[in-house]
Amino acid sequence: MKAQNTRVVDYGGDALAEAARLIRAGEPVAVPTETVYGLAADATNAKAVARIFAAKGRPAFNPLIVHVRDLAEAERLGVFSEEARALAVAFWPGALTLVVPVREDSGLAAAVTAGLATVALRCPAHPAIQALLAAAGRPLAAPSANASGAVSPTRASHVLASLGGRIPMILDGGPTQRGLESTIVAVAGGTVRLLRPGPISFDDIAAFASGVGSQASGDGRIEAPGQMRSHYAPAKPLRLDATSASADEWLIGFGAVEGDDNLSPAGDLAEAAARLFDALHCADAQRRPRIAVAPIPKEGIGLAINDRLGRAAAPRT
Ligand code: TXA
Ligand code: MG
Repeated sequence: MKAQNTRVVDYGGDALAEAARLIRAGEPVAVPTETVYGLAADATNAKAVARIFAAKGRPAFNPLIVHVRDLAEAERLGVFSEEARALAVAFWPGALTLVVPVREDSGLAAAVTAGLATVALRCPAHPAIQALLAAAGRPLAAPSANASGAVSPTRASHVLASLGGRIPMILDGGPTQRGLESTIVAVAGGTVRLLRPGPISFDDIAAFASGVGSQASGDGRIEAPGQMRSHYAPAKPLRLDATSASADEWLIGFGAVEGDDNLSPAGDLAEAAARLFDALHCADAQRRPRIAVAPIPKEGIGLAINDRLGRAAAPRT
């Protein structure tokens, strides 16, 4: 892949017009969402989608999430059962991705779904990607804007460190609010299965849809094709449930476990989720060769935090 100049541009009218021009020309652009930064490209253009896979070094079997402006656009791409529609109405725009049967006439590039009969759809809440969707006038495929297997980016500087030289532009909208990738559920007819825990908890989902199956995550099974056990990996070894650190460890604290850094001194799980990936990026940049992380309660969004930490600690395969 030829090295290119990556421009980081503050989000605003001019930046948006330039980003939309690049999207229409089939180029990928990094853009903030409320979860993490995404690497967006025209989901209907096979060459544009191929550039996402090339820039990330992403294996071709791993399908992409397609971002849409609203439920009406989503229903032109996928088939919505009553349950799927109820969830979209309850949580969109927001941090929920729905995997539903793909429409034959969706017009999506084949690589987006990696040959599956389903498509992952999300209507994001962040104004930057909403404005880009409106300006580009087409659905945007957008995985997290990091090299495949690395920690997801929650700041423009994380994107630049991971994909600088490989993409033309990063829209800088500041740090993302949620900090963890969207919750993914598969809706097949009347059944709802959790594929990836995230900011919207399984209990929240169960309140809005019948047919919710037992929580599938955490038992090591690969549900979404991209959910490899070792994923979101920092460059250094990582130890979980640490209440103190050895001399060669950088301790990421939580609550009363103070640490060198602290995800949330007040013990607030939403704050910890928002800070998690930045803390991992920051720990990677320290001199100390190892990372330790304080225990995080396994409740609410803490389940998603523990899911990401478990993957970050798993040996790379
Ligand atoms: O918050 C998010 O979801 C972010 C922002 C940018 O929207 N995106 C994101 O994309 O996390 P990515 O590519 O890093 O993760 C998408 C996950 C992958 O594990 C992929 O395998 C899964 O979604 N996925 C995509 N299409 C699928 C499908 N049809 N069936 C099952 N899993 C699917
Ligand atoms: Mg990712």
